[in-house]
Amino acid sequence: MPTNHIVVLDNRPEGEASASNFKLITAETPALQEGQVLVKHHYLSLDPYMRGRMNAGKNYAQPQPLGEAMIGGTVGEVVDSKHAKFTVGQTVLCMGGWQEYSVINAGVAGALKHVNAEKISISHYLGAVGMPGVTAWYGLVKIIQAKPGATVTVSAASGAVGSAFGALAKARGFRVVGIAGGKAKCDYVVNELGFDACVDYKEHTDYISLSKALREACPNGIDGHFENVGGMVLDAVMLRANDFSRIAVCGMIAGYNGEPLPMTNPTLILKSRMTIEGFIVSEHMEVWPEALAELAELIASGKFNPRQTIAQGLAAAPEAFLGLLKGQNFGKQLVKLI
Ligand SMILES: NC(=O)c1ccc[n+]([C@@H]2O[C@H](COP(=O)([O-])OP(=O)(O)OC[C@H]3O[C@@H](n4cnc5c(N)ncnc54)[C@H](OP(=O)(O)O)[C@@H]3O)[C@@H](O)[C@H]2O)c1
Repeated sequence: MPTNHIVVLDNRPEGEASASNFKLITAETPALQEGQVLVKHHYLSLDPYMRGRMNAGKNYAQPQPLGEAMIGGTVGEVVDSKHAKFTVGQTVLCMGGWQEYSVINAGVAGALKHVNAEKISISHYLGAVGMPGVTAWYGLVKIIQAKPGATVTVSAASGAVGSAFGALAKARGFRVVGIAGGKAKCDYVVNELGFDACVDYKEHTDYISLSKALREACPNGIDGHFENVGGMVLDAVMLRANDFSRIAVCGMIAGYNGEPLPMTNPTLILKSRMTIEGFIVSEHMEVWPEALAELAELIASGKFNPRQTIAQGLAAAPEAFLGLLKGQNFGKQLVKLI
């Protein structure tokens, strides 16, 4: 069995996460038991939810145990198998974690999935045709439920979830406005992803100013919003939100290191009769097949060509992850492990 390299959570952050919270270790891979498959990871997905798992406190999921491989989605190849449905050389998707190899109990429902690498490059199964894409689909279709002619907005618009949200919303004919950090990201959102407009929140120091920029980009107001960030961005959107607008709360990354995120004008929820709904995509597995089929079609047809930031080698994972929490990624953040 191969020698494995693993990034474990060594200790929990107090406030901002740092590279010293992680440790790279070497371990022997255990021999396969009946029903198990050995997967060699080609790509590891880095996602903001991992920051929440590093804490011990209350969250929607159990904390990441100390001393174990950090949780994470991976795509790779079967290199050894004691399960009849998986053979050496097949491309597979699993929650393999921050390590080069994983041993998967393939009989557990959903633990190991075959991936079709013919029309879609395998890294997209961790992004647009994976969990982030389905997240965007769920917020748009099930929560925002926009009507024809609607204007919808999304924060962290250039990222894995935000870019998929834009592609799905444009395909349905909505006016789509992004909010992103910096000119380069805003230019990409409009010129390459095809959004109708993008507002650079970094040009604004307060939510009133940001809200004025949103008024120009959304002359008919905002009917639906997909929130990835929280804080000033959400305050500004709420000021421009129409009566009976619907907000899907997907993430609050501006607060993931423990920063307070007070809402400035909660009375707008009442005055504008808003619906604000938080959700966790893994609690809605029933929509995944439909959402993935639509996302796969967008990618395979070339209508949606999302950007990726790819760090090289497992040892680069902690810094790449910390960069993601600061907006240093541009598009889906991955680590290439081979
Ligand atoms: N609810 C669910 O089931 C679910 C599932 C998946 C993801 N999510 C959430 O969806 C959001 C996006 O995830 P993703 O994987 O697509 O990540 P991403 O957008 O690819 O990367 C994160 C982006 O967040 C922005 N950001 C980081 N810190 C920020 C801050 N302090 N203020 C404002 N923006 C900041 C940065 O973009 P800028 O440079 O543009 O600021 C950064 O590029 C996250 O909040 C994540 O937790 C939720």
